[in-house]
Amino acid sequence: MTALDQPARLDPVVGRPLDRVDGPDKVTGAARYPAEFGFDRLAHAVVVQSTVAAGRIGGIDTRAAEAEPGVLAVITHANAPVLQAAPSSVMGPAPPAPLQDREVRHHGQHLAVVVAETFEQATAAAALVRVDYQVEAPLLRLDDPRARTVAHPEVPDLDRGAVEAGLAAADMLVEATYTTPTEHHNPMALFATTAVWDGDALTVYDTTQWPVNVRTVLAATFGLPEARVRVLAPFVGGAFGAGLRAWPHVVLAALAARQVDRPVRLVLSRAQMFTSVGYRPATVQRVRLGASGDGTLTAISHQVTEPTAIGDDHRENPVRATPVLYACPNVSTRFRQVRLNLPTPTWMRGPGEAQGVFALESALDELAAKLRIDPLELRLRNLPERHPQSGKEWASNALRACYERGAARFGWSARSPEPGSMRDGRDLVGWGMASAYYPYVHRPAEASARITADGRVVVASSTTDIGTGTGTVMSQIAADALGLPVDRVRFELGDTRLPPAPQQGGSGTTAAVGTAVHAACLALLRAFVDLVDDDPASPLRGARHAGVTAAAGRLSRSDDPGQGEPYGEILRRHGRSELSAHGHGAVRQDASHLAPGIFGAKFAEVRVDPDLGVVRVQRLVAAVDGGRIVNQKTAESQVIGGTVGGIGMALLEESLTDPGSGRIVNATYADYLVPVNADVLPVEVLFVGDPDPMNPIGAKGVAEIAIVGVAPAVANAVFHATGRRLRSLPITLDQLL
Ligand code: MOS
Repeated sequence: MTALDQPARLDPVVGRPLDRVDGPDKVTGAARYPAEFGFDRLAHAVVVQSTVAAGRIGGIDTRAAEAEPGVLAVITHANAPVLQAAPSSVMGPAPPAPLQDREVRHHGQHLAVVVAETFEQATAAAALVRVDYQVEAPLLRLDDPRARTVAHPEVPDLDRGAVEAGLAAADMLVEATYTTPTEHHNPMALFATTAVWDGDALTVYDTTQWPVNVRTVLAATFGLPEARVRVLAPFVGGAFGAGLRAWPHVVLAALAARQVDRPVRLVLSRAQMFTSVGYRPATVQRVRLGASGDGTLTAISHQVTEPTAIGDDHRENPVRATPVLYACPNVSTRFRQVRLNLPTPTWMRGPGEAQGVFALESALDELAAKLRIDPLELRLRNLPERHPQSGKEWASNALRACYERGAARFGWSARSPEPGSMRDGRDLVGWGMASAYYPYVHRPAEASARITADGRVVVASSTTDIGTGTGTVMSQIAADALGLPVDRVRFELGDTRLPPAPQQGGSGTTAAVGTAVHAACLALLRAFVDLVDDDPASPLRGARHAGVTAAAGRLSRSDDPGQGEPYGEILRRHGRSELSAHGHGAVRQDASHLAPGIFGAKFAEVRVDPDLGVVRVQRLVAAVDGGRIVNQKTAESQVIGGTVGGIGMALLEESLTDPGSGRIVNATYADYLVPVNADVLPVEVLFVGDPDPMNPIGAKGVAEIAIVGVAPAVANAVFHATGRRLRSLPITLDQLL
C-alpha cells in the first residue's frame, strides 16, 4: 500500500521468507553465467602468467605456441597495442592495464594471452610460451627492510582523547599481537569474460559485482564512448568482493577478441583465480587495552599492518570498527600498508573489519579473563549509547538487543567462567562471544518501473545478484509499493543498458537499489495520478490532493478507499499499452545529525579434543541488527553463509606464499581448506532491531556483518575450552597440542 506523500507501507510481501525468484532457473540450468554465452566462431583465450615474483621480461618466445594447431594469436607486451589508463572509481584506482611494459611485479601476473579455436588448444599452446626473466629478489615479507611502508591517504590516523594517559590510568592492561592470514574468496564459479565486438561496439559478459564500472574501465582502456560498451552479468556464481574491480583478464578478453576479430571467451583456472582477482590481505595487529577494575575501558590502541601491491592500490580499513564499538574516551588507530611483490589484495567479505574485529574482540576477551568479568558483561559496560567518535545519535543501533537476545538464545548465562571447566565426555567445551560492526553505506542508484495493461510490472536496474537474493528482494519492494502480488513483478538486472547502479558490495545493495526501486514505483503511481486527475471517467479524478493507495492491483482514493480502479483499466481507457517511470534513490539529505551503523553479536560453542587438538564448532548464534529484513529467508541464508566464512577464517583458511618464489603453494580446492557441511553444525540467526530511518526501505544490510565477529567468537571459545590464547589465525590443531 502506498500513499504518494509518504514512504510506502512495506507489506504484506516485504519481510516474508519468499523463495528466491531465480531459484528454478538456477536449479534447472536455465541460468546462464558469463562463461556460458556461445557465439558463432567463438574463440578461447588462456592467460600465461609469470613464474617469478619480481624482475623484468628479457624476452618472450611465442613461436612454438603460434605453431600449435588452432592457435589464432599470442599477445604479449611486445605486440599488444597501447591501452589507456582507466580512471579511478569511488572505490579507488582501476588496475593497471595489462601487457603494457616488461615489469614483473608479482608471481602470477598476466604476461601473455593465447587465443585459439578451442580452450584445449589455447591451454596447450599457453604452456609453450617461453619467458626469459631478468629475475630480482622479490619483496615478500612485511618486515623486509627494503619494502616501502605507506599510510593510505583515505584511512587517516585517528586519535581520540589521549591514549597513553588512558593506558597509564588503567587498573588492568592487555597488550598483544594478533595475526590473520591471506585468504582467497574462492567463489564456486570461475571468473569468466566473454567479449564480442561489432565494429567499434563492445559487448561483454562478465563475472562482476559492478557492470557500470566494467563499462567505464573498458571504454577508457579502448578509447571508446561508454555508449559503445555494454556489460552484462545476468548471473554471478559467487564473488564475495572479488568481482568489485575490472581485473586485467577482463581487458585481455576484450583485447583478444579485437585482435582476432572474433568473439572470445576467457575463463580463469582455479589456480589462476588465486593471483588474478584479489584476496584478503594478511594482517599483523598490535592491540593495547586499558580498563579500570570494573571493566570500564580507559584506552584502546590498535595498529594494523598489511601488505599491498606494487604499482596498484587497495584500500580497506581494519581499524574502522575500533573507535565505534565501545564508548571509550581514548582511542588511537594506525593503519599501514607495505608494498610487496604480491598480487593486489582486494575487498573480501567484511573487508578490514573481519580482520580488525578479530584482534579487537580477542583482546576484549583477554581483558575480561584478566578482570574476571564475564565477557558479555564487559561489552555491556562499555556500550556506545551514542556514536563514540562523532557524538551523534545513532540512526538505529540494536547492539544491546543483539547481546541480550543472542545470549538468551545461546544460553550464555549457564557458562561457567573458568577455562577448561566445561566438558562433554572427554571433549573440552568452550563458549565464546564477540561483537560486530560494519558501516552502513548508502550510494545513489537508479531504477525504472514499467507496467503493462495486464497488470504486470518490470522493474530494472543494472545491479547484479551475486547470490544474495537481490532480484527477489527488489521484486518484493516493488510489489508492496505498487500493491501487486509479487508474482506480477519481474526484476531485470545485470546489464548496463538498465538504469545505473552502484557496486553490489559493502552490504549496500538492498538499501541503495531498494530505494531506487521504491522511488521508481512511486513515480509510476504519480504517472497514474497524472493520467486520471482530470479524467471524468475515473473514480480517482481529483485524487492528487487526497492521495491514492495502491493495494490489490488497484489504485484507490485515500480519502474514500471504496473509490478506485485497476491499473489496467486506466491504461485501456487512455489508449496506452503501458506506463513507465524512472526513480533516483538519492541519499537522504536531512540525516547528517544521525550516525548509521550495522551491528551484531556472535556466540560460539566449540568442542576440543584434549588429546588430538581437533576443534569443532558445535553451534553458533548470530544476532544481527541489519535494519528491516526484506526477505527473512535470503537474509538468513546470507548470514549463515557469512558465518561459514567466519568458521573458515577461524579454523581452516590460509593461502600460503612460498617465501622464495612468491608462488601461492596451495592454490587448489584440495589444499586451500574451506568449511564443508561436516564442519558446520547448527547456525542460528536472529534478526533484531527496527527499520532504519536512513532510507525508505529501512534496510541497513547483512552481508558483511555476517562474517564479522565469527572468528573471534570461535577463538574466544577455544580459549574458554582450553585456557590457550591463540592469537594467530587459523587456529589449527598443532597449536593446541
Ligand atoms: Mo563485499 S567484500 O563488499 O563484495
